[in-house]
Amino acid sequence: MSVAQSDNTRKVTTHRLIEMKKRGEKISMLTAYDYSMASIIDQAGMDVILVGDSASNVMAGNVTTLPMTLDQMIYHGQSVTKAVKRALVVVDLPFGTYQGNSKQALASAIRVMKESNAEAIKLEGGSEIRESIERILCAGIPVMGHLGLTPQSINKFGTYTVRAKEEAEAQKLIKDAHLLEEIGCFGIVIEKVPAKLAGQIASELTIPIIGIGAGGSVDGQVLVMHDMLGINKGFSPRFLRRYADLHTEITKAVQSYIEDVKSSDFPNESEQY
Ligand code: KIV
Repeated sequence: MSVAQSDNTRKVTTHRLIEMKKRGEKISMLTAYDYSMASIIDQAGMDVILVGDSASNVMAGNVTTLPMTLDQMIYHGQSVTKAVKRALVVVDLPFGTYQGNSKQALASAIRVMKESNAEAIKLEGGSEIRESIERILCAGIPVMGHLGLTPQSINKFGTYTVRAKEEAEAQKLIKDAHLLEEIGCFGIVIEKVPAKLAGQIASELTIPIIGIGAGGSVDGQVLVMHDMLGINKGFSPRFLRRYADLHTEITKAVQSYIEDVKSSDFPNESEQY
C-alpha cells in the first residue's frame, strides 16, 4: 500500500507537515486553480494544494504573475477549497497586496482566509517583508514563505535563471530562511537554487522546505500542475518532470470529436432521446 493510500483520509494540517519532516516523510505539493482538478488531485492523495499565482500564466495567459488580483486569487481559492477534503490548501497573496505595509498585508490575508476558506497563505520574500509576516501570524493565519526565485520580483531579477549561485545571495537566502522559521512560518517554498544550498537549509531548519528546482535533499516538492501534466508544452526547464502528455491527449480527443460531428457519426442512436 502506498503512503497516499495508507493515510488517505486524515486531514493534512500545518502541524502534520512538521511531523512529516521529523519522520523524514517527503511532502507532495501541487498547484490547482479549479474545482474539478482540485478534486482529482486531493483524491489522489496530495499533501498540499497550492492555489498559486501561477494562475496568472496558466489560467489567464499572462506573461508574468504580476497582473493577478486579490479577487482573482480568492475566486480560484473558493473553487479549490470546495473540492478538497484532505490536502492542506494554501493560497498565494498576489503581487501588490502585501508589500505596501503590514496593515495592507493583514487585510489581504484576512480576505483570503474569510472569503476562500483556505487554511494558509504564501507570500514571497524574506527580511524585507518581516513586519507583514509577523502581523499576519499574530492574527492566527498560518504563513508559508517563498525564497530563491520569487516570480513576483521578475522585473528586479530580469530573468528566471537559477538564484543564489553567488555567495552573498546564498548567505542572504540562508539568513532569510532562518528568519522565516524564527518568526513562525510553518514552511518555505525554495525555488530554483543550487541543490546543495537548498539541502543545507533543509537540514538546518525544523520547518519543511518544499523545493521547486531545488534538488532532492529538501523535505518535499512542488510543481505547477499544467507543467507536470504536459498541458503546457512550451515550458521545459531542467527541473520539470512531465508525468503525462495531456496536450497531445486532449488534442487527439478534440480532433476526434470534430471529425465525428462533421461526419454525423456523433450523436448516434444511443446518444439521443
Ligand atoms: O504560483 C505558484 O505556482 C508557485 C509555485 C511555483 C511554487 O508559487
